[in-house]
Amino acid sequence: MVGNRRNFIFRVSIVINIAVLLYAAMHLSGSTGPGVEWVPVTVDGSERSAELRYLNTVEFRNVTETRLPDSSMKNYEESTSQKTPSTMPSTNKTASSTTSIAELEKKLHDTSSEAEMVNETLDIVDENALSDATLARLRFLLACNERDFLPQYLQRGEYWVLKNYVRADHGTVLCHETITYTTHAGFEFLDNVPPLVERWMAPVSLAIHAPGADVVPTVNSIRYLRDCLGNDLIRQFVTFHVFFSNKHIPTKIPDPNVFLNVPYNCTVTPPFISIRANETYMKQKNLLYPVNVARNIARDSALTHYILPSDIELYPSPNLVPRFLNMIARNAKPLNTSTKPRVFPISIFEVDAKVHVPSTKTELQAMLANKTAIPFHKFVCPNCHNIPQRQQWMTANETNQMDVFHVGKRQRSFVHWEPIFIGTHQDPYYDDRLSWEGKKDKMTQGYILCVKDYEFMILNNAFLIHKPGIKHYVRNAKRDSLAAKQTAYIKNVIMPELKKLYGTRNGCAL
Ligand SMILES: *[C@@H]1O[C@H](CO)[C@@H](O)[C@H](O)[C@H]1NC(C)=O
Ligand SMILES: *[C@@H]1O[C@H](CO)[C@@H](O)[C@H](O)[C@H]1NC(C)=O
Ligand SMILES: *[C@@H]1O[C@H](CO)[C@@H](O)[C@H](O)[C@H]1NC(C)=O
Ligand SMILES: *[C@@H]1O[C@H](CO)[C@@H](O)[C@H](O)[C@H]1NC(C)=O
Ligand SMILES: *[C@@H]1O[C@H](CO)[C@@H](O)[C@H](O)[C@H]1NC(C)=O
Ligand SMILES: *[C@@H]1O[C@H](CO)[C@@H](O)[C@H](O)[C@H]1NC(C)=O
Ligand SMILES: *[C@@H]1O[C@H](CO)[C@@H](O)[C@H](O)[C@H]1NC(C)=O
Ligand SMILES: *[C@@H]1O[C@H](CO)[C@@H](O)[C@H](O)[C@H]1NC(C)=O
Repeated sequence: MVGNRRNFIFRVSIVINIAVLLYAAMHLSGSTGPGVEWVPVTVDGSERSAELRYLNTVEFRNVTETRLPDSSMKNYEESTSQKTPSTMPSTNKTASSTTSIAELEKKLHDTSSEAEMVNETLDIVDENALSDATLARLRFLLACNERDFLPQYLQRGEYWVLKNYVRADHGTVLCHETITYTTHAGFEFLDNVPPLVERWMAPVSLAIHAPGADVVPTVNSIRYLRDCLGNDLIRQFVTFHVFFSNKHIPTKIPDPNVFLNVPYNCTVTPPFISIRANETYMKQKNLLYPVNVARNIARDSALTHYILPSDIELYPSPNLVPRFLNMIARNAKPLNTSTKPRVFPISIFEVDAKVHVPSTKTELQAMLANKTAIPFHKFVCPNCHNIPQRQQWMTANETNQMDVFHVGKRQRSFVHWEPIFIGTHQDPYYDDRLSWEGKKDKMTQGYILCVKDYEFMILNNAFLIHKPGIKHYVRNAKRDSLAAKQTAYIKNVIMPELKKLYGTRNGCAL
């Protein structure tokens, strides 16, 4: 009985998936489909009704009842027939389209089946995999919309963005079924991509700043990563976006449709190894790194509901994606009781240059004990990273499933906390005007999160490890002067704006 119901619900979700995909395919030019306000993951049915409202739009019905345009169907089939990675279980999405949409919708409306579904305990056998029941539950709880995955030229202030310049081969990604790691870099940091992807094993949205002549080594680096590593993980998961200022447009923009059809000569050392950091076009022209433009581009292009905006040198603990999504699907306390907006910070550590990056919390703890691992930025800025219950986190034993370890706020003694967290597209953006060199580039987002009373649900077993090599503070007079300017700009220009837009709250500061 229970099995049948699950089966039915799963089939309903499949039909919804197909319908939503078609909807997205029919609206190629729109960026995101109907906007949704922040909706907390609760069981009161509000999100569910949001999805049903969406499903009931006349437009949606017309789309679902129309015959499919051949091209979108073809793309769809191609994508489903591809080898699907472990976090995106292969589902035979075309198999169950015989039941009529109207009938399924009617059943979905039946409130008792809705309520039963959310109250039923989810049986999770393997935390590192996503079962059909988990996926159906996620679809239901997240009520997210599919986003398009097309190459596009667009503008962001003074920057031109080649969105989806080189797309991953993963094909269609449904918004509930995985998480996107969103990140950014200049090409000289692309050596981080292989270790990152091997541990993440899910989509990565990577924005690359490639002004002027930097576009050539950027393209060669992308080609090397896709062609020369002896596995297809990067092809499978990583989508590359390229952007540059309108004052530094490359003389010629390589056409991906051309260069992707030519195998790269893998005996040539990749530019991210052969070119020195001071030899890039960016450095020679003394350009600043527009870190927040990059972050926002990477995030905007992510296809999933949950995103992990991170720095490219931070490697996640393995199985983070399925473990996190199983936790969300279980929807236990405090996820099902709190109605505040939330994000999920991940603890960050540094390890010695020569050691192996730990894969489990237990291993990390052994390394903390013998000092081959330390908390992030311990020697760079120990007070910048005052983190709620960090000591308790480090001593707590690893458990067999992911849970919320502690719910913190970015207030009082944690007011300057700059966490890296799993969030959603509803979270505030980073301020495009701030550069990496000027520092404090994430503080304005932190302030908004605080004023909006976000809860910081720190995850128990998950962690990020910085690329091996423990950092020590090095004085840099040029950077200090840029930082002083940016600090003044934040205080005198941005803060008054934020106060007008978001108001203030006791305990919140930059
Ligand atoms: C949907 O279909 C109905 C009946 O075929 C039609 O009257 C209506 O205008 C259509 N709506 C849209 C948005 O195309
Ligand atoms: C999917 O379902 C179709 C129709 O039932 C069937 O022909 C096909 O073999 C199935 N594919 C897989 C991978 O199970
Ligand atoms: C589901 O659980 C909630 C909270 O425990 C309860 O209020 C509600 O009545 C339950 N619904 C059903 C159908 O059991
Ligand atoms: C590949 O590059 C190497 C080293 O530059 C060169 O010797 C070789 O001829 C190249 N191979 C091809 C097929 O172009
Ligand atoms: C880059 O730095 C190296 C030493 O780190 C130096 O030898 C070289 O001349 C520099 N190149 C440029 C173009 O400044
Ligand atoms: C939240 O989840 C816990 C554990 O799964 C459950 O005991 C509790 O009844 C749920 N609370 C609500 C309000 O649904
Ligand atoms: C520290 O602990 C880790 C994990 O147990 C181990 O692999 C490593 O060899 C240890 N290093 C030293 C210097 O003790
Ligand atoms: C943590 O794990 C260690 C080793 O497995 C065990 O000895 C200890 O009792 C555990 N601590 C707690 C609080 O469970």
